Amino acid sequence: MEVLIREDPENGCLLGAKIIARVVREKPDAVLGLATGRTPLQLYKELIRMHREEGLDFSQITTFNLDEYVGLPATHDQSYRYFMRENLFRHINIDQSRTHVPDGTAVDMHAECRSYEQHIIDAGGIDIQLLGLGRNGHIGFNEPTGSLRSRTWIKILSKQTLEDNSAFFGSLEDMPKHALTMGIGTILDAKRVLLLAFGPAKVRAVEDMIEGPLAAVCPGSALQLHPRATVILDENSAAGLRYADHYRWINENKFDWQRHK
Ligand code: GLP
Repeated sequence: MEVLIREDPENGCLLGAKIIARVVREKPDAVLGLATGRTPLQLYKELIRMHREEGLDFSQITTFNLDEYVGLPATHDQSYRYFMRENLFRHINIDQSRTHVPDGTAVDMHAECRSYEQHIIDAGGIDIQLLGLGRNGHIGFNEPTGSLRSRTWIKILSKQTLEDNSAFFGSLEDMPKHALTMGIGTILDAKRVLLLAFGPAKVRAVEDMIEGPLAAVCPGSALQLHPRATVILDENSAAGLRYADHYRWINENKFDWQRHK
């Protein structure tokens, strides 16, 4: 796992945007796996700026989002489809028909999950999957103790996740308790993964993910198995890492071609 520690979330997001922009420039028809939540907002703003000011071209890009709440239509302002439209898609030159978010209103949810997996395969697989990290170590909506080899499926949200996200819905009662999410197996199939985690609330999850045992109690720890996983932290989220100096040492001693420029 490549661990990059930046002084604050803003610099972490700028670095994340640089990494994704490089994929887009090198492969104009790349397949991007995208995430929602507070963490990537600044990264999306930077991609929008690069599109406007530097001509970063998304016209041939395909995207697959990690997850969606069950029961929320695309018009609901808390649906992830709505989030993506408002925070990224409508500000860049992406072909909306190439953007995919699981359909939380599908009548046959099992069929929806299976076809989501198939669409990813048909698109040639995900070139880079962006991820955030839940306070309990979840990635996508894969909650602790779920299978580390799961595929896109219906998940029941943990009480912790309901607490963390209910503010967006006004109250706990108004928040869906189920979601469709790419599984951990689906995420691990991406050619690269890029996870961002910032702030003191993520300290424990970050520790468990990077330095803890590979264990279903911390779904993020599955990234230890990925051959090309990059994690971007800020000083706050990295505060509990035993090997922080080692990660800094590794970064200082990289070959020039290994650095993210
Ligand atoms: C949400 C999403 C995740 C996200 C995580 C962290 O519930 N399903 O994809 O990474 O929780 O959210 P935030 O970035 O707001 O801290």
